[in-house]
Amino acid sequence: MSRSAHPAGPRHADVLPEGRSVASAAPPADLNTLDPKVWAQTVTRDSQGVVTVGGIDVKALAEEHGTPAYIVDETDFRARARAWRTAFGHDADVFYAGKAFLSRAIVRWLHEEGLNLDVCSGGELATALSAGMPADRIAFHGNNKSTEEIHRAITAGVGRIVLDSFQEIVRVAHIAESLGKRQRVQIRITVGVEAHTHEFIATAHEDQKFGIPLAGGQAAEAVRRALRLDGLELIGIHSHIGSQIFDMSGFEVAAHRVVGLLKDIRDEHGVELPEIDLGGGLGIAYTSDDDPREPHEIAKALTEIVSRECDSAKLRTPRISVEPGRAIVGPTAFTLYEVGTIKPLDGLRTYVSVDGGMSDNIRTALYDAEYSVALVSRTSDAAPMLARVVGKHCESGDIVVKDAFLPADLAPGDLIAVPATGAYCRSMASNYNHVLRPPVVAVNDGASRVIVRRETEEDLLRLDVG
Ligand SMILES: Cc1ncc(COP(=O)(O)O)c(C=O)c1O
Repeated sequence: MSRSAHPAGPRHADVLPEGRSVASAAPPADLNTLDPKVWAQTVTRDSQGVVTVGGIDVKALAEEHGTPAYIVDETDFRARARAWRTAFGHDADVFYAGKAFLSRAIVRWLHEEGLNLDVCSGGELATALSAGMPADRIAFHGNNKSTEEIHRAITAGVGRIVLDSFQEIVRVAHIAESLGKRQRVQIRITVGVEAHTHEFIATAHEDQKFGIPLAGGQAAEAVRRALRLDGLELIGIHSHIGSQIFDMSGFEVAAHRVVGLLKDIRDEHGVELPEIDLGGGLGIAYTSDDDPREPHEIAKALTEIVSRECDSAKLRTPRISVEPGRAIVGPTAFTLYEVGTIKPLDGLRTYVSVDGGMSDNIRTALYDAEYSVALVSRTSDAAPMLARVVGKHCESGDIVVKDAFLPADLAPGDLIAVPATGAYCRSMASNYNHVLRPPVVAVNDGASRVIVRRETEEDLLRLDVG
């Protein structure tokens, strides 16, 4: 079957082995339309049909910076950061989760927009400090911080360390005391809630490497120990319940349980801890089927939940903090690829190979994540074909977009883009097959600039010391 003879139609449902939703769904009426839900704010098509971002067209970006490349819309990033900051106001703190994607430019934008930063390794801490984020606006996370990392964080004066185990309580206290300091800390607890997208499971989900379980009184015991140590100033309790969450009911259960612990602490120690951190995990639109909430709705919901719980426990409402990563950076970027080999498989689908793959986006292989894709270097009136966008790696699981419709006249040399790749793509990128990691290019107001440069073969060889 030729590519053009592989149109959308009722056959798709029975030819797709996995039977994923897109297979049975009708193809979009118009493949040229860009759903603003999944694309960065300034993305549009120009009069020639070429997609532009920040006023620059993708052909010019590809020519100047090569492909694949992550293209970040700075205007959109700043607007989203500001929206989170404004939504939570002055009585709460927004810590951007650096694990989603961190670079010095990102740190500067966050600083300028009034956000704080959550880091979880010495490398992220170094990046934050080197770009001028004030240390007291940094939270240090991690389930296995090294002694050296703890030492460095305390010496730098980080605003808080989030304690993740009984051993760490003692370790951080000891290092702080040896430095003649009293470190502000939170204790990360697991509240028995796991939330993903539209579901949450409120059973014992303590079987994980993060945090100290609330169950069995372990969190209460951790608090007891932390309160006894001179090197620590316990300022609050931390809970993070999942990722890509749309439904707020998981937070409701988590807040109920965290506030229950705060009440127990008050009753036992006569201390009302001043802060509560509800973590990150808020969802974004990867495809048109996703309907994320706006930051102001999330802020309102979380604030109301915590106030209600505190009122009924007769506690002063603590200062809330949140740690969105994906919800800020995710939608602000897309990955620009050049189409290479196109392989139609009769009765199945068409494999569209791009010049990157699982080394620049591991999420599809790792989490079965769903993405959208569009032809961006031109428009097309050709019939939709069911495609799978795959990379160039020696691995059959090297899939970028599992099932998507692309125009049947797609040809080698066309540019396609995968939106919503700002989070957990560059930050999880690898050198598998010694493929070079793509650059991150920031676009703003008609100008583009590289904020993380493309890796070179010299970079690879420099590390390989023979
Ligand atoms: C403690 C903590 N905070 C924040 C985040 C950020 O999550 P997201 O990027 O989904 O908002 C994570 C993600 O794993 C996390 O573990």
